[in-house]
Amino acid sequence: MCGIVAYTGTTEAIEILLAGLRRLEYRGYDSAGIALQRPADRADTPNTPSTPSTSSVADTATPASTLAAEPLQVVRRKGLTELVTEADGSTRNKGMIEQLTEAVAALADTDPLRGTCGIGHTRWATHGIPSEDNAHPHRDCSGRIAVVHNGIIENYAKLRQQLTAKGHHFASQTDSEVIAHLIEEQCAGNGGNLREAVRTSVAQLSGNFALAIISADEPGTIVVTRNDMPLVLGSFEGGAIAASDNAAIIEYTRDLIFIDDRCLAVLHETGAIEYYDPAGEPYIPSGYHFDGSIEDAQKGGYPDFFLKEIHEQPRVIRDVIANRFDLKTKTLVFDELPLTDADLAVIDRLYIVACGTSYHAGLIGKYLIENWARIPVEVEVASEFRYRNPIVTPNTLVLAISQSGETTDTLEAVRLARRAGAHVVAITNRVGSLITQEANTVFYLHAQLEVSVAATKSFLAQVALITLFGMFLAQERSLLTGPQIAEIYGEMKQLPDQIEHILANTSAIKTAATACKDATTALFIGRGVGATTCYEGALKLKEISYLHAEAYAGGEIKHGPIALIDPLGLNDPSAQTPVVAVVTQSTTRDKMISNIEEMKSRGAQIIAVATEGDRRIAELADFVLYIPPTRECLSPITASVPLQLLARYIAEMRGTNIDQPRNLAKSVTVE
Ligand code: M6R
Repeated sequence: MCGIVAYTGTTEAIEILLAGLRRLEYRGYDSAGIALQRPADRADTPNTPSTPSTSSVADTATPASTLAAEPLQVVRRKGLTELVTEADGSTRNKGMIEQLTEAVAALADTDPLRGTCGIGHTRWATHGIPSEDNAHPHRDCSGRIAVVHNGIIENYAKLRQQLTAKGHHFASQTDSEVIAHLIEEQCAGNGGNLREAVRTSVAQLSGNFALAIISADEPGTIVVTRNDMPLVLGSFEGGAIAASDNAAIIEYTRDLIFIDDRCLAVLHETGAIEYYDPAGEPYIPSGYHFDGSIEDAQKGGYPDFFLKEIHEQPRVIRDVIANRFDLKTKTLVFDELPLTDADLAVIDRLYIVACGTSYHAGLIGKYLIENWARIPVEVEVASEFRYRNPIVTPNTLVLAISQSGETTDTLEAVRLARRAGAHVVAITNRVGSLITQEANTVFYLHAQLEVSVAATKSFLAQVALITLFGMFLAQERSLLTGPQIAEIYGEMKQLPDQIEHILANTSAIKTAATACKDATTALFIGRGVGATTCYEGALKLKEISYLHAEAYAGGEIKHGPIALIDPLGLNDPSAQTPVVAVVTQSTTRDKMISNIEEMKSRGAQIIAVATEGDRRIAELADFVLYIPPTRECLSPITASVPLQLLARYIAEMRGTNIDQPRNLAKSVTVE
């Protein structure tokens, strides 16, 4: 939910930390902060007591003399507080890192941020409102120890009480601050050994965390640790670095290191890293060489990552499909799955657990798997699954879908399923993410880094992969023949070109967006896989444009939601409720036409997603977004694209922050 970055080495740390935070901003953008060891600490008397200010030391009201007295330099800023007017008169919220960078620059004359060892944090608030006091890094009472934390400390209230009783003073409402005071307490008891203090402190923490800690008393040293939260490390010629995500590190090294739960790493300015297990004994971590491009994390000429990622979808679908079908044997190949024919034969139930957009991919999966493989499939929101008593046995196959691989509810659902003896297949986009360590089998989406908080390309990759897997299960159960699979696979190979065609013809989508951008609510209707396409389309619209939207199966409309259609819309176009109808060629097309007529005759404005050449729809609808013809089971992959673009254009017209919608985060690592 938050992002952390830490660097020690031979170059000035500030630029490396700010660059890292820019790459991690997608993880949380409520506030950001950095702490640096002062170079002067090495020469000065390190044990001079000092009391840290309780607000940002970079506050312009804070006198420079106070700043110089702080043993560590700390700058923190709350995000999205300043409105900027652009040259063309448009306004936007000033980004959090932009504000932090300006705060750092403002200190150049009074107390320049210099130093080659520091930590940084980007926050998605859980405990305590987004504010500068609650922003990380948090410090102990002396101000000599600073901590950045991603995760949640579940026993923080008890620890805070105990530490307060011992005389510690707390400056924030966060759960994270207890860690700084706990380490201070442990340091006092062990003669000031930071590593040992972190180890013994971590042993007292319940919950999940990735931590980076510096102390003014250990120049050039950073201690990091993790439990159930991502942390990746690396060393290079210029020093050593750690962060929540590869994206903040690969500029410096592509040889990435991962440590196990509650293990510690000590980063030195020489680039050397020491590793310790939870008992304090030396241990050897695992490594991984990352081949992806740094360009993945940049916008590549698009105004926002959301649009860039929509345009990457043809490539993503090509990659998902590639090499899954063996032309010689005419069979689908899922080599990652270690299950034998006998194992697969006894599978009597399949659960799909996921959240948000990934859940919608699961709903499409149910339709396809039941249709082809005839295995009963239950799709469940992970946060519900984990708190009930689902019927999971060793004969249950569980598919856990998570783009980030970090979603806490999905991870807990995976753990529950594993405890019950099920084989768990994780479908994720993030190499080395937590879910890959929890599941029995991993199918990677290989959609590359998705920066926009609202998912697009990862969703299409999930749907394409689960489509292939549905056919694979049917193949293994002899319910689809080689030629049948070859025919569908052949059509799947046309999907990238079809998406490119949609992306090249967006004028009707823009016109429809203009017509409904001022609506207060929108309905989405479809049937079969068209309904699930609508669930995702409505979520996209809500997420990025803040226009309220609800999706229903077409047949459900008359059971209640039709009351939302204002009859004033019959005479006044501005009173019309937009109804987005997915009505592609399918077994239920005629039923959908009846549903559209019902809505239209009551004053709705119809925006139809239909198959090219369907003239009947053009007579009924106010706007038609045509997509190339494809078989029904593949239609979610193409029909989703105009809905993503519709949401994108409406959001742009409404002036929202498309890549970072309010209140959301890319990885939801809290319940
Ligand atoms: O990383 P995950 O796929 O597990 O994330 C699940 C949801 O949090 C995510 O899909 C969310 O709904 C996005 N905001 C969708 O755009």
